[in-house]
Amino acid sequence: MGGIVGCFARDGCFERLFSALNRLEYRGYDSAGIALLSGEGAFSVRKKKGGVAAIAGEPLAGSVGIGHTRWATHGAPSDVNAHPHLCGKFALVHNGVVENDAALRAELAAAGERFLSETDSELIVHLIARAYAGDFFAAVSAACARIEGSYAVAVLCADHPDTIVCARRGSPLVAGAGGGALYVCSDIPALCGSAAYICPAEEGEFVVIRAGEIGFFRADGSPVPGKVFTRVRGAARPHAVGAKTHMEAEIAEVPAALAGTLASLKEADLSACRAPFRAARRVLAVGCGTAYHAALSFCGLLAAEGVPSLCRPASEAAALAAGEGDVLVAVSQSGETADTLAAARAARARGAFLLAVTNVEQSSLASLAQAALFLRAGPEVAVAATKSYNCQLLCLYFLAARLLAARSTAPAWEQSLAALPALARRAFDSFSAVSALAAAWQDARGMYFLGRGQDAVTAREGALKVKEIAYIFAEGLPAGELKHGPLALVEEGFPVALICTSRALIRKCATAAAEVSARGGRVALFSQYGEALAIPAAFRIRLPAAPEPLMPALAVIPLPHLACRLALLRGHDPDRPRNLAKSVTVE
Ligand code: M6R
Repeated sequence: MGGIVGCFARDGCFERLFSALNRLEYRGYDSAGIALLSGEGAFSVRKKKGGVAAIAGEPLAGSVGIGHTRWATHGAPSDVNAHPHLCGKFALVHNGVVENDAALRAELAAAGERFLSETDSELIVHLIARAYAGDFFAAVSAACARIEGSYAVAVLCADHPDTIVCARRGSPLVAGAGGGALYVCSDIPALCGSAAYICPAEEGEFVVIRAGEIGFFRADGSPVPGKVFTRVRGAARPHAVGAKTHMEAEIAEVPAALAGTLASLKEADLSACRAPFRAARRVLAVGCGTAYHAALSFCGLLAAEGVPSLCRPASEAAALAAGEGDVLVAVSQSGETADTLAAARAARARGAFLLAVTNVEQSSLASLAQAALFLRAGPEVAVAATKSYNCQLLCLYFLAARLLAARSTAPAWEQSLAALPALARRAFDSFSAVSALAAAWQDARGMYFLGRGQDAVTAREGALKVKEIAYIFAEGLPAGELKHGPLALVEEGFPVALICTSRALIRKCATAAAEVSARGGRVALFSQYGEALAIPAAFRIRLPAAPEPLMPALAVIPLPHLACRLALLRGHDPDRPRNLAKSVTVE
């Protein structure tokens, strides 16, 4: 998995590839590589284990090239497993997973092919080389027909030094033009700042850059009619300023991001949703990781208002059996997460109404959906989702309110949505106390995050952040579950973050805190209520107050800050946690 880029530019081809790879790094940073082709058909290749910075240096010469940044699936991160992979006259970069890898490897090995890497991607370049009889496009097309699984590939051929042949199935690919260059790339944000115009390739399409022109083709080589390039929308990925990490910068942007979401919601057109909302037999929601937590919160809110709703991680969406009469809300910051796209495609194919909640307007998810709400949170670069979660919650609160209005009456709390940016800013008042908490907990080997009702979801989100970037085992649990097993791990000094934003649940939270304290555990309480003083706690973090159904968007704010402080105190880079990637484009 990872990100691919291809570029044709008479000037600065290497530099353009390098800068696009820098912007693609959120898709993986296990290794990086670039290959350029000279006019005489000679390859220059630089590929190395590590992030894109590892291949910095003297620019390679050539005006046609391909590049890759990798998140390892088949084979460890290493120089040799880094893309591009070469075979005979061909060089290839690949994003995706070859599912019939074992069968192809055996077949090719039996035919005498020898492999340098452990990757599934290298098999594709061997298939191309074997299929080649002078027609570059036909060889790539024949090789793609042999692949089961997903791919976006960009291929160079020494016999055609002015050409890049690319193809996609299951992994995204977009063509771009501008600034004297032509591009293909795994996604649009990586082209922001380089290409002025873009045109996504659809499933099964091929993109060919040849002699300074770009075209779209079907597998049989016939041109795809009606492809239109549109102006790139969205800002270039920013770089964190000064000593700040992207994650710290993005947490600080939460209020501004929420204001962006509010503005986006004012323009939102949900006219296509009215009838499906009114008639929906069930409202279903899916997402992955943090986006799944936002989806869970949404379904919890609807369930509390009496609307039948169900939520699953997108990778488990089959259990929902979404179909005719259902509304499926698919939540994804990037709009490119493979599990979410698969769930969305399957639901649409079975007749469900699909609504996307995403930050990327030209994403695959947005184009698949019948209606969409856009976060307009600005680019999120750090692997950990922060501001996008608050904005997803705001979109989903809005959606829940519109859905309830379509079915009966709008909820009173809808009026308070506009106050969320200012309230979020007030949540920052807790940060010095949270930093002190991180200093006290930095040596912990494990911790719990507890909450009841909607706070159980916030607890899960806090635990995910701590695992992901501080590498501390953390579990988010409904507080009532503690006594059914997890309490066994609580001993002297064991850290427990307890979130309590529901007045009706203060007593029950007090019981959970007492159970922890009695075993020597150290409770940090997160609440907006003075009455929560009844809850025994070693640390108290005061939250700003909003109507209770909206509290998850505020209660979560100190938790990424806690995780980020823990990561920094333990010497980890919060922006690039090990083993992970920002956008997970394989199922
Ligand atoms: O782009 P998406 O929202 O679809 O990404 C989903 C998850 O991969 C993502 O939220 C992940 O869990 C975050 N790194 C968590 O901080």
